[in-house]
Amino acid sequence: MHCIRLWAVVFCFQFRLRLLVIKHQIFRAGIVHFSQSTTDPDKDVKCYSDGALVIAHDKIVALGPYKETATDYPNAQYHDHRGRWIIPGLIDSHLHYPQTEMIACYGKQLLHWLETYTFPTEKKFAEDAYSRKIASTFLRQLLKNGTTTGLVFSSVHASATDILFDAASEQNMAIIAGKVCMDRNCPPWLQDTAESAQRESASLIDKWHGKGRNLYGLTPRFAPTSTQAQMSALGELAQQYPDVFIQTHLSENMDEIEWVKSLYPDTDGYLDVYDKYHMVRPRAVFGHCIHLTDHEWQRLGESGATAAFCPTSNLFLGSGLFNLDKARAVEANLALASDVGAGTSFNMFRTYGEGYKIAQLQQQTFSALQGLYMMTQGPASAYNMENAIGNLNPGTMADFVVLSPEFDELSALRLADTASAQDMLFALSMLGDDRAIHQTWVAGKCLYNQTEVI
Ligand code: GUN
Ligand code: ZN
Repeated sequence: MHCIRLWAVVFCFQFRLRLLVIKHQIFRAGIVHFSQSTTDPDKDVKCYSDGALVIAHDKIVALGPYKETATDYPNAQYHDHRGRWIIPGLIDSHLHYPQTEMIACYGKQLLHWLETYTFPTEKKFAEDAYSRKIASTFLRQLLKNGTTTGLVFSSVHASATDILFDAASEQNMAIIAGKVCMDRNCPPWLQDTAESAQRESASLIDKWHGKGRNLYGLTPRFAPTSTQAQMSALGELAQQYPDVFIQTHLSENMDEIEWVKSLYPDTDGYLDVYDKYHMVRPRAVFGHCIHLTDHEWQRLGESGATAAFCPTSNLFLGSGLFNLDKARAVEANLALASDVGAGTSFNMFRTYGEGYKIAQLQQQTFSALQGLYMMTQGPASAYNMENAIGNLNPGTMADFVVLSPEFDELSALRLADTASAQDMLFALSMLGDDRAIHQTWVAGKCLYNQTEVI
């Protein structure tokens, strides 16, 4: 008994000592997040109208109602964000960094747009100085919009991929990226080979996967631009590195689907091409998935792979309407994604807003909390990364966003009497943009502060 009391005294003393020695910061605001994976985000959301988030160094150490939490941290540096909201750093699950400069280029549909704008632009990434310039603009755009993690397509150049990882490392951002692989059906100056794609991808994995916060994604652009030999070479890597990501495009456009049928006559549909080469598995993220058959949805759902819903891109290229209900029926992992530069905004709330309209056109429901889940905890848990990103649980990295939902006269009028996170998020998605992002914090550092931008 005596021993237990002594131990308790020592423990308390150590705890108090740690509070004095470690530099804590406490943020007071409304707080909304999902503490765990769920199929019902509307029910399982965690919300504090007067909340406290406490961080130390690069991690979150406490979260709760302000009054209860603050007493444990009397010496913490205080950030008063009352009237604002804190949410986890956002995850954009599919976008292209070389396409930053060609966002919003007038086009026809996918294949014409690729040939007219995408391939000529991606050629410029053979030059390091150019890649450096765009990589830093790209990361600034992410931060300005509250995105702290992206699944990013580079160009075909390994050097451009190194440059992106270098730039992300300087900011300590959790970026998942990969060199695009394509050895046919694109201009010769953008082509690699089966052998060079395998060699360069393997060497980028060794260099970047798990280095700091970086992770690697094998990136066959899409089935039409890879020969079977290249798919087979990348499939070998997928087997060799089971925790590496795989990112590609799937069933985006009807002409593309017909093209895949003719290029891969021995497979049972588009998804089956990737399946044949061991690429349908957890941490595989398929952009678009608009025109999947029921059989393909079934396979995607059971595989642990993720479907990335890219609403602004799908509307912009006239690709079609993503069927949320089909995805839900097979309990597929779902993530939201901007798909910049076919996507027309880096802003994930805007992205959700267009997704809501796509759901409306099909008489389907898509709440703002479901949207928030698909850009935070949903993908984090699908990627087995929920101990590091996607939520505000103590122990995760201090990646978070401070929102100013009342950023102008109209939003202030609309939100004057709003107490609910759901309503605030929805209004923000319809009316807002980067003006509603007050600050973006990455690994405990404020990397974007709207009031300091010139
Ligand atoms: N399919 C193959 N490449 C691309 C691309 O860069 N963007 C989109 N939206 N679809 C693709
Ligand atoms: Zn894409």
